[in-house]
Amino acid sequence: MNTIIRLETENDYLNVEKLTREAFWNLYMPGCEEHYLCHILRGHTDFIKQLDFVAEIDGNIIASIMYSRAHLISEDNETVEIVSFGPLCVHPEYQRQGIGTALIEKTRKIVEKMDIPAIVIYGDPHNYCKHGFKNGIDYKVSNLEGEYPLGLLVLELTPGFFGKKKWKAQQSDVFKYNQEEAIEFDKRFDEKEKKTGYSQELFRMQIRAFLREEQLTVTST
Ligand SMILES: CC(C)(COP(=O)(O)OP(=O)(O)OC[C@H]1O[C@@H](n2cnc3c(N)ncnc32)[C@H](O)[C@@H]1OP(=O)(O)O)[C@@H](O)C(=O)NCCC(=O)NCCS
Repeated sequence: MNTIIRLETENDYLNVEKLTREAFWNLYMPGCEEHYLCHILRGHTDFIKQLDFVAEIDGNIIASIMYSRAHLISEDNETVEIVSFGPLCVHPEYQRQGIGTALIEKTRKIVEKMDIPAIVIYGDPHNYCKHGFKNGIDYKVSNLEGEYPLGLLVLELTPGFFGKKKWKAQQSDVFKYNQEEAIEFDKRFDEKEKKTGYSQELFRMQIRAFLREEQLTVTST
């Protein structure tokens, strides 16, 4: 199987949105909104064009990764630009074949060359631990409210960057999109049945899970 990883072009936009819809449909909610996020992200000031990659097999786009600018704000008010990725998806027929890993690896090398000290994302730890991501709490990186969501994940690229300071991660405003507009946007695509399922319940469990600093001490008996 010959997989080509390349930058997304304007001709790919619709196909990437269709792929993203296919990969996320009914996964975290009945239907999905990630294809709308792809759509608005490309026109947003936080979009990072040089990290917008697709994977292609036989001329068909089967995976996509997009990045946005984000910031870390330290407790002594230092602001540092970092990056975040998402949506990241692989077409269901091509999952578990290393393509998601290949997209993360490809882009992570570019991010390193950009002198960006860390990648901070929100995601399912199961997908990202193997790539070296840790919980935000392990680097004292919280959300803007000072909480440590289970899904706030950090990949330190500059060793020792986080030091002992506390940091807050600020994601791009692009994620605060209007849900009504996302529903309206979905009407441009073929009708698809919205269903409920246990993956949505699992997601609900994960987004309500927060870590506490005192949980860091593990004792064995
Ligand atoms: C999450 C996602 C992007 C991962 O992409 P992927 O291409 O399936 O990921 P990989 O194949 O690189 O790795 C996934 C697993 O397949 C395994 N794998 C990789 N190559 C393999 C191969 N040749 N044979 C068997 N298993 C393989 C990996 O070890 C990994 O195992 P794990 O789940 O036990 O950790 C993809 O599953 C997806 O699009 N999911 C739906 C959308 C989504 O949830 N996106 C992320 C939002 S947080």
